[in-house]
Amino acid sequence: MVPELNNPSVWMRNRTRVQEIIESMRRAGPSTIQVISDFDMTLTRFAYNGKRCPTCHNILDNSKLINEECKIKLAELLDRYYPIEIDVSRPMEEKLPLMVEWWTKAHDLLIEQKIQKDRLAVVVRESDAMLRDGYKLFFDHLQEKGVPLLIFSAGIGDVLEEVIQQAGVFHPNVKVISNYMDFDETGTLQAFKGELIHTYNKREGALLNTELFQELRTRPNVLLLGDSLGDLTMADGVHSMENILKIGFLNDKVEECKEPYLSAYDIVLEKDETLDIPNAILLYITGQQ
Ligand code: TMP
Ligand code: MG
Repeated sequence: MVPELNNPSVWMRNRTRVQEIIESMRRAGPSTIQVISDFDMTLTRFAYNGKRCPTCHNILDNSKLINEECKIKLAELLDRYYPIEIDVSRPMEEKLPLMVEWWTKAHDLLIEQKIQKDRLAVVVRESDAMLRDGYKLFFDHLQEKGVPLLIFSAGIGDVLEEVIQQAGVFHPNVKVISNYMDFDETGTLQAFKGELIHTYNKREGALLNTELFQELRTRPNVLLLGDSLGDLTMADGVHSMENILKIGFLNDKVEECKEPYLSAYDIVLEKDETLDIPNAILLYITGQQ
């Protein structure tokens, strides 16, 4: 059916169930399908040549827009909170306030740096940000088939948009829910807009506030892509869901995370830096193979 599911990076707890969902989505057709995806470490690479790739936040943190003292503080925050973010042994209630703390402190530091809107493009261009191999097929195919792609990110919307714009794949079917910067009349960062989105509050609250919700309602078959257990609730705002296929990229702490990921995601991709599996499934369910 989808031979790529036999690749060595692919793990599934229930292969039969995965096959059933895929067949059911294929029968329903492209006009019923939507893709809801996380951004950092899901659409972008986790590592390249053994070196970690940046998140939206890291693109700014490592850039010339941030002074040395602030860089140290941001790195300290990352060292302190990232292990908490990915720790599968800590209960969610314990992690939630700590994530709010991380995002709030990081955003306050970025605001102090008086970042200029018109410098974002060059900073993204000079960064090591990389979309996963196969990204062009992924974005172009969805656009061609009229399948909406919702990118639901706890990163920074302005930076994320710039990454996909520069890659030439910010097509009209792409919608983004993320943390957007608020610039004053001189183009200087003064705040972040709206409700804060962090790793563990990606759910309908944010979705309900958007006009996107209408379109999402009418598409009951969802392909969900994520890399964190927090990404699993991204489709909670979709009404009358018929099928959902959850694909999780397991990038880090593979041994500890394998079990919980296999319980939560239908397909787990272990240290797979490509979009080959999502692409193979998409081509199959939209009738290209
Ligand atoms: P995502 O929802 O698009 O994956 O983006 C969230 C990621 O951003 C999450 O894995 C943690 C990361 N992050 C940083 O790298 N630096 C920061 O300062 C903050 C607040 C988050
Ligand atoms: Mg992510």
